[in-house]
Amino acid sequence: MSMTQRLYKSGRFEIGSKEIQMLEGIKTRRSVRSFTSDEVDDNTIDLIIEMGTWAPSGLNNQPWKFVVIRNQHLRDEISTQTKYSRIIQKAPVCIAVFLDNSQSYDRVKDLQACGACIQNMLLALHNLGLGGVWLGEILKNRESVEKILEVPETCELMAIIALGHTEEKKKEGSRKPLEEVILARK
Ligand SMILES: Cc1cc2nc3c(=O)[nH]c(=O)nc-3n(C[C@H](O)[C@H](O)[C@H](O)COP(=O)(O)O)c2cc1C
Repeated sequence: MSMTQRLYKSGRFEIGSKEIQMLEGIKTRRSVRSFTSDEVDDNTIDLIIEMGTWAPSGLNNQPWKFVVIRNQHLRDEISTQTKYSRIIQKAPVCIAVFLDNSQSYDRVKDLQACGACIQNMLLALHNLGLGGVWLGEILKNRESVEKILEVPETCELMAIIALGHTEEKKKEGSRKPLEEVILARK
């Protein structure tokens, strides 16, 4: 067990320790579904997307593409494609994440890379004091969303991230205990 893991387990966090800050960031990120009307500027959005692109990918093929959606009319149109319409209507900005199949070399690995990219973005925006949520239910209508956003035919919707300044009170997270998810220690 590393020093960081020992500290973390014992609950004795060293304030300012980079490792602990990162672990705390991972653990305190929660899905945020309601936002104030405050805008998120383009530099911040670029930083969040850049952090997404630092995710690992097989052969470093970086198969992701993004569309930044601010326009209210467009968000309203996209919101008709999911039962989570209110989140998309009210978030000041959404980022649609695509797998660009023209860059793909192995479908499973490319899907995994897109997932890592999305999680990086969620952690980045949390670290910046913003809130956001990974929206996947909309994938049932992914082709309609791809048409609305006029992306190239090679681009397959992976998720929409709705984000902004958090309005709601932070919720407690819950996870299965490790005993339930670690199958074996061999
Ligand atoms: C693949 C995937 C799809 C998701 N789709 C939705 C969604 O469509 N709507 C929604 O409100 N939350 C969605 N979520 C967020 C989950 O509900 C949330 O991550 C989970 O309940 C755990 O809560 P937490 O993120 O606050 O820890 C999705 C998360 C993932 C990873």
